[in-house]
Formats: sequence, structure tokens, C-alpha cells
Amino acid sequence: MSKKHVKITVNGTAHEALAEPRTLLIHFLREALELKGPHIGCDTGHCGACTVDLDGRSVKSCMVFVAQADGHEVTTIEGVGAPGALHALQEAFREHHGLQCGYCTPGMITRAWRLLQENPAPTEAEIRMGISGNLCRCTGYQNIVKSIQAAAATLSAAGQEAAE
Ligand code: FES
Ligand code: FES
Repeated sequence: MSKKHVKITVNGTAHEALAEPRTLLIHFLREALELKGPHIGCDTGHCGACTVDLDGRSVKSCMVFVAQADGHEVTTIEGVGAPGALHALQEAFREHHGLQCGYCTPGMITRAWRLLQENPAPTEAEIRMGISGNLCRCTGYQNIVKSIQAAAATLSAAGQEAAE
């Protein structure tokens, strides 16, 4: 199959590459760009481990062809926060034990990151609904929900401080 020239902005940096159009976005991110944060859990759109942000929407990157992301903006967990500059969600997951094995965590946090931009003060039910496409085999979700609630409170307090 002939390769297609794609240009995708990932975490604020423009990347150009030749890729087979049928390449999945998750494989492009992990293999061509070496962004190992998004994980592959099922490859069938069920688990959410591969969740990234595409033009302001959470998507499962195992369900997106790289050709569909051509000309678009992608954010992965590496763009949400970094060692030494963790996002409030990452801090909250650490503090409130929102992870055990950590396999679901990059996708879970990337999803929660978009959720809190859409709804900065979600109820517990809204959080549970918002992350319903992301499966965790370890935590029972209790501490994940607590972590997202804590991050929402931190971000809200920081926003109020900035406005004062
Ligand atoms: S790897 Fe994409 S949803 Fe499971
Ligand atoms: S922390 Fe292990 S799958 Fe979620």
C-alpha cells in the first residue's frame, strides 16, 4: 500500500511522516513518535487505555487511522503533564492512590483532563459517566473518582486565585 504524507501536531509539536494510511494512530504515536504513554489494552475500542485528545475530544487512538489525524492536533498524556511539572490530575492520582498497576492511568487521566475542561465541577455521577469508556482492572474506581474530584477542587481554587 502506498504511504501517505501526514502532518500531525502532537503535544504542540508538528510532526511530518510517511505512513501507511491504515496505520492506527496508537501505533503511530508509540512507534513513530516513541510516545509510550498511551497504552494498548484491547485494540478493539473497549478499554480506553489508548485514549488521547484529538482536536479537543477524547478518542480511542486504536480506533483512529493515522490518515484521519492528518492536519489535526493530538494531545497525549505526555502533553498533559511531565516529570517535574505534573498536572493537578497526576498529582491527585498519586496522592489519592488513583492507580495500582498503572496500565489504564495514562488513558484515564487524559480522559479526565478533557472531562474537567468540559465540566470543571462534575458531580460524582458525571465523573463516573465521563470515564465510563475507560476500564480499570485494579482500583474499583473509588480512588480514581476521588482523585478526579480532588483535581477539580485544586484547579478550581487555582482559577479563583488567578482571578483575584
Ligand atoms: S486499546 Fe484502544 S480501547 Fe483498548
Ligand atoms: S490501575 Fe491497573 S488497570 Fe487501572
